[in-house]
Amino acid sequence: MRLNMKAIYPTSVLMCPPDYFDIEYEINIHMHKEVQVNPKKAMEQWLALKKIYEDLGIFVETLEAVKHLPDMVFTANAGFLFDKTVLLSSFKHIKERQKEVPHFEKKFQRLGFKTKQMKRYLPNGDYFEGHGDALRWGNTTVFGYGSHRSTLTGVTIASGIAGVEERSVFLQLVDPRFYHLDTCFCPIGEFALYYPGAFGINSRDTLERAWNTVEISEEDAVNFVCNGVPIQMDDDSWKFIVSKPTADLREILEKKGIEIIEHDASEFKKSGGNQRCLTIFL
Ligand code: ARG
Repeated sequence: MRLNMKAIYPTSVLMCPPDYFDIEYEINIHMHKEVQVNPKKAMEQWLALKKIYEDLGIFVETLEAVKHLPDMVFTANAGFLFDKTVLLSSFKHIKERQKEVPHFEKKFQRLGFKTKQMKRYLPNGDYFEGHGDALRWGNTTVFGYGSHRSTLTGVTIASGIAGVEERSVFLQLVDPRFYHLDTCFCPIGEFALYYPGAFGINSRDTLERAWNTVEISEEDAVNFVCNGVPIQMDDDSWKFIVSKPTADLREILEKKGIEIIEHDASEFKKSGGNQRCLTIFL
């Protein structure tokens, strides 16, 4: 890693330590109560990710973990950030995750953000899970929706509240293994990695026709390569923090001048997340 360079995006992120992280319930097909987390290993992996950010010159804000809210580590789902405002998520799994929201709200307010509760704007039965289902790609905001988490109404309303509806793309997610957009789609500068099988046929068509995309293999997809974190450096080069990619994908990325920073997030994979889920860009 070239340490003399600094990240220009993101310049700061919010993370939550895995003090109470475990598999207390099963709300996606990756979670199995009988496959428990090794707490020591989870903490080591989380600290290693935090250190990578800090070594890149990225400031890491943290918020205190709360007992019996094991998925608070996945700060990407806290909300959607725009204009110093956070649109706080309205989770599909109310019993399991909605109680995280007041803790995130307090933290964001302390950081100087205005907050809005997505729940207020949504009809019953509609959901929006923050940056798990909303990723910026240049001037465009790409949203994911489907029957797994955020709904089409949820993402449509969110884009309207954020005032980005004219520069939004809505992609339908159809494979339960890739229940959030950030598990199967990853913009890195000019292009985006994506796993075609995760998307409905029309969404896949939109992606392939209108955008500069690089298809990844199922092997890389199930290894949550799309949940890696792209970092833009001050010389406009990119680094990509990611779990071990296949040799083929590594070659493609390196040819594009992207430096791969490998990070093992195996303990978080047991809950259906990797590096990007553990991070929200501020
Ligand atoms: N166990 C968490 C859930 O199912 C994982 C969330 C992963 N977050 C993400 N941004 N993809 O809600």
